[in-house]
Amino acid sequence: MKVVERISQARSIIAETKTAGNTVGLVPTMGALHAGHLALIEAARRRDDFLVISIFVNPTQFGPAEDYEHYPREPARDAELAEEAGVDLIFAPPPQEIYPEGFTTSVTVTGLTEGLCGRYRPGHFQGVTTVVAKLLNIVQPDRAYFGEKDYQQLIVIKRMVADLNIPVEIIGLPTVREADGLAVSSRNRYLSPEQRAVAPRLYEALQHGAELASQGASGSEVEQAVKKMLAKVPLFEVQYVEAVHPNSLEPRGDARAPMVIAAAAYLGETRLIDNVKVEEGSGNA
Ligand code: PAF
Repeated sequence: MKVVERISQARSIIAETKTAGNTVGLVPTMGALHAGHLALIEAARRRDDFLVISIFVNPTQFGPAEDYEHYPREPARDAELAEEAGVDLIFAPPPQEIYPEGFTTSVTVTGLTEGLCGRYRPGHFQGVTTVVAKLLNIVQPDRAYFGEKDYQQLIVIKRMVADLNIPVEIIGLPTVREADGLAVSSRNRYLSPEQRAVAPRLYEALQHGAELASQGASGSEVEQAVKKMLAKVPLFEVQYVEAVHPNSLEPRGDARAPMVIAAAAYLGETRLIDNVKVEEGSGNA
């Protein structure tokens, strides 16, 4: 496995492997690798011959009051885990390699980025789409792999790739969970033991919503029921619970499944997000 910081180095290694006839898979990450990333890497390993992960804590997707400075950075541990998982190349650029002086271009996906997390994190998705567009241009993978935990991010990236005719297949993979249901996230480490103990209640409430949706409840009914359940959990401060269409991300309102029930909630300073998908006329998917 190689680790490179420069775009030119990554490009020449990737060009060589492509010339040898290998397909290339990309798993974009911000490092602090966990079981969720390892599942993406494993899926990529199965499909692609040459596996690249990017490790870049992207400053443009963090708001001024967010945790950019404190976001965990563990390059040595990440390299060990990546090597064990069969990664061929780590692309870990410094910020100035991605955003050199004079950089002024950004990619904006409208509509899809306005609700859910976008409402509470202005500029976040523009930061994500800009960096992902750059990473896709740099690596030019055959496939890129993203987790469904960041469901809105996945849909936004699919839209960007379609709209900009970027020649890559975007693969979304199911959320990896701890044994008690909590979605695996780099930010879970910020939770105190007390907060960690109640954290799985977010997924429990979403599952309850999914059950109601699969029994025919409307989007609004599901939202009310999930909010009611979360209101009873100590320490939780709910930011939003929304039932949206899985593709358009439009609120379902009086409409029934299909829907994605998505929520964001704070436990102290730590913001957790999660979602469950309910297919049309079926149960919890
Ligand atoms: O999901 C993430 O870790 C980030 O948003 C991504 C896709 C690596 C872009 O910085």
